[in-house]
Amino acid sequence: MTFSSQVWNMSADTTVSIFYGPLSWFKQELGDLEHESLLELVHELDEERRQFRLVGHGQQEPLESSRQRPALVVAESNDYASFNEHFITNFAGQIRSIDPEELWLHNPPAIVQAQVQRLFGVNVERYDYPAVTVETLVKINEGFAAHLVGQNAVKESLLAALYPLTASGRTRPVVLMFFGPSGVGKTETAQFVNSLLGGELMRKQFSMFHSDKFASYLFGGHHSEGSFARDLLDRDSGVILIDEFDKANPIFHSAFYQLFDGGLFEDKNYHVEVGPEVIICTSNYESEDQIREALGDALFSRFDALIRFRQLSRPETVRIIDIILDRRLNDLTEKELELLDQDGLREKLHGMASNVKNVRKLAKFVDEVLSLQLVRALITRPSNTELSASE
Ligand SMILES: Nc1ncnc2c1ncn2[C@@H]1O[C@H](COP(=O)(O)OP(=O)(O)OP(=O)(O)O)[C@@H](O)[C@H]1O
Ligand SMILES: [Mg+2]
Repeated sequence: MTFSSQVWNMSADTTVSIFYGPLSWFKQELGDLEHESLLELVHELDEERRQFRLVGHGQQEPLESSRQRPALVVAESNDYASFNEHFITNFAGQIRSIDPEELWLHNPPAIVQAQVQRLFGVNVERYDYPAVTVETLVKINEGFAAHLVGQNAVKESLLAALYPLTASGRTRPVVLMFFGPSGVGKTETAQFVNSLLGGELMRKQFSMFHSDKFASYLFGGHHSEGSFARDLLDRDSGVILIDEFDKANPIFHSAFYQLFDGGLFEDKNYHVEVGPEVIICTSNYESEDQIREALGDALFSRFDALIRFRQLSRPETVRIIDIILDRRLNDLTEKELELLDQDGLREKLHGMASNVKNVRKLAKFVDEVLSLQLVRALITRPSNTELSASE
């Protein structure tokens, strides 16, 4: 995929615009502007050159010469993966040969940006990520209890921790560590905050990576592979959720120093600047001391706030059981409802409140008990005296 520079007569310089942000936004910026995809153009030109070589042996006019100078050529975030290494390392030269009037690059690798910046006039556009405002804080304050049962102290700490984001001069993110037992609302709280800001939550679960894959995901591998940096660039949410941070091997901790400090994340291929947004890490650590011990002072000190989620009390657990049960009952048909002994069911589930505190487990348990009662009622219906009262 190389082009000789005589493909087109170079009439004028190319204006390059670089867009950093989500694809949906880039497409919106593009609107109905007529454009050609760089990827397709490169394939077409490659094919033409191949045919020319086969047929012409240099005696014929190059086929490309019949082409018009492209007006607007576009490359999207995903496209760079399809170019070979040679094309990427000679990107600016290749663009010179193609010589479009305008080139729009969406989330290009750093090497591509550096090259085009050296050769052409470049303007850079950045997506405005949803920002925490005083209004967001009001909504958190008012809506928290409707989403989360208990965890009142969390709400207070959260409001205090997010407050600095409302300052107009702020350029760096706020970095939070949510810690505490499993299934008590950490991920749910991150989702709640994001729902107030908008965009699809960027959520990375660190338990899902094996060490070898994780290294290239974090530090960057071949430019065609997915990476944390690229996911950061492509995101559209105001919250960045790094779920299960405690499951990452400590050798990866240093990758986060710069990001947590000033919002800069660089890997082998990409350079990302995260602005005044919210980065939330979650973990099952039990105390601040344990976090400091596990993460080390360097990383520990980079968190703006550590927010503890507590085990739910028995009355709180009972309230959650009721919420889950009501939600499930709402989904049943009238016939199914007739088969159920709702009071008995509720009582049985309340009895579980002292033993099961993990809400995720509680929800599964509610489903199990509910299905079991329904099935039992269905298969033993005529002789089931326990159910006859509600029939
Ligand atoms: N305090 C709570 N009030 C209401 N619902 C809750 C609460 N805690 C958890 N849930 C519900 O339970 C489910 C699991 O909660 P969540 O994913 O937030 O747990 P978590 O604290 O992140 O646990 P883990 O440490 O295992 O990731 C979600 O569906 C959530 O809505
Ligand atoms: Mg979670």
